[in-house]
Amino acid sequence: MSETAFKLRDGEIYHSITLGFGSMGAHGSQIIPDDRWKLVLYLRKLQEESKGIQGTEEKN
Ligand code: HEM
Repeated sequence: MSETAFKLRDGEIYHSITLGFGSMGAHGSQIIPDDRWKLVLYLRKLQEESKGIQGTEEKN
């Protein structure tokens, strides 16, 4: 997960978890849909907390 994920929409993060993206494999068979959406919210929370620390703040 890099700063590029700041620019992704929630559905794009969900799809990246489900189907994989680039060199990251798919996790759709390991994580139920409800938990995948919870991961999206968790990643957003981590992004909020990292704002100002890493200088990776992006306009959403
Ligand atoms: C549930 C756990 C995970 C979540 C929520 C997650 C989430 C994400 C997201 C949102 C992206 C950005 C994809 C995009 O730009 O569309 C990403 C990229 C990536 N993830 Fe994960 N990931 C998870 C597990 C893993 C694991 C286990 C690995 C390694 C074994 C991994 C390796 C990578 C790599 C290498 C990328 C960059 C892909 C590329 O740009 O080629 N991820 N991840």
